[in-house]
Order: sequence, then C-alpha cells, then structure tokens
Amino acid sequence: MPLRPIVRYPDPRLKQLCRPVELHELPGLRQLVNDMAETMFAAHGAGLAAIQVGEPLRVFIVDAEIAGRPPTDPPLAFINPELVLLGGATELTEEGCLSFPGIYVPIERALRCRARALDLDGQPFEVEGEALFARAMQHENDHLNGRLLADYVGRLKRKMIERRLQRGDVEDDGR
Ligand code: NI
Repeated sequence: MPLRPIVRYPDPRLKQLCRPVELHELPGLRQLVNDMAETMFAAHGAGLAAIQVGEPLRVFIVDAEIAGRPPTDPPLAFINPELVLLGGATELTEEGCLSFPGIYVPIERALRCRARALDLDGQPFEVEGEALFARAMQHENDHLNGRLLADYVGRLKRKMIERRLQRGDVEDDGR
C-alpha cells in the first residue's frame, strides 16, 4: 500500500511534537520513505513530513530537483534533522502545504538554511540550500514540531482556513 492518505488540517495529529527515530528502527523506515515519496509525487508536492501520512516521527523528504539533485533521483530524506544554520536575508513568499490544499499563506523565511540529519543508512550528512530548497527544509522541519501554515496567521484567518478545509470544497491543486 504505497500511496497513503494525506492528513489534512485541522486534524489534531498534525499539531503533535514528532519523536526522533531510534537507530534500530532505521531498517523499517525505507518502506515509509518510499510511501511518502509516492504520496508526494501523486499530490505534486515539493516536500512531505512523516506526520502528514500519520507517522509521528522526525522524518521528512524534499523533492530531488528542489534539493538541487537530478530530477530522476529519489527525494532527499532527512531523519532526525536539525537546522544548524539559518542565514542570509529573509524573504516573504506565499507557501502551500499538502495538508492545506488550496491554501497559501505568506511566510517570512531565511533564504539560506543548513540542515544536519541522518540518511536511510543511518549516516550523518549536512546539506545547505538556498531560496526554495531553504524554504522547503524550514517548512518541513516545522511539521516535526507541530508548526503549520495556520500558526503563521491571525486567529480570524485561521478560522477562515479551518472552515474552508472542513467544507472540503477547495480545489486540490496539490501544493
Ligand atoms: Ni506542509
């Protein structure tokens, strides 16, 4: 069952603090990451966190092309990531999320971001990205801490977003 349903706001599972993956769990993680990749591609997303398919683990993926890799590469997987540097100027840009279909929220993010994480073999790596890649890492890392698009807007706008998503009549354009 590789394609998984995407958990949508305001499902309370999205608000939880995700837990670190333990080393003995790494072998089982490959299937989850493959499922996440298929789910992200099918939804035309740029990134996806494990909690968005219902697994409260500190794991996210970013589309290979956005991560500066050949587009035929699998998405870059980050396990137990830490953002070790946020730098450069900031940029205010509208951001989408597969858990908020059809919703875009302007969010100010650092233009440079460096992350440290484990890969699927348990090897540590560091990667630095700019612009869209930097934004994607910051967005996905937010998911691990239960921080969502709705946390970047005021109370009234948040209520509007909740109503729109609960009505379920938004067109799903897959961002
Ligand atoms: Ni998201």
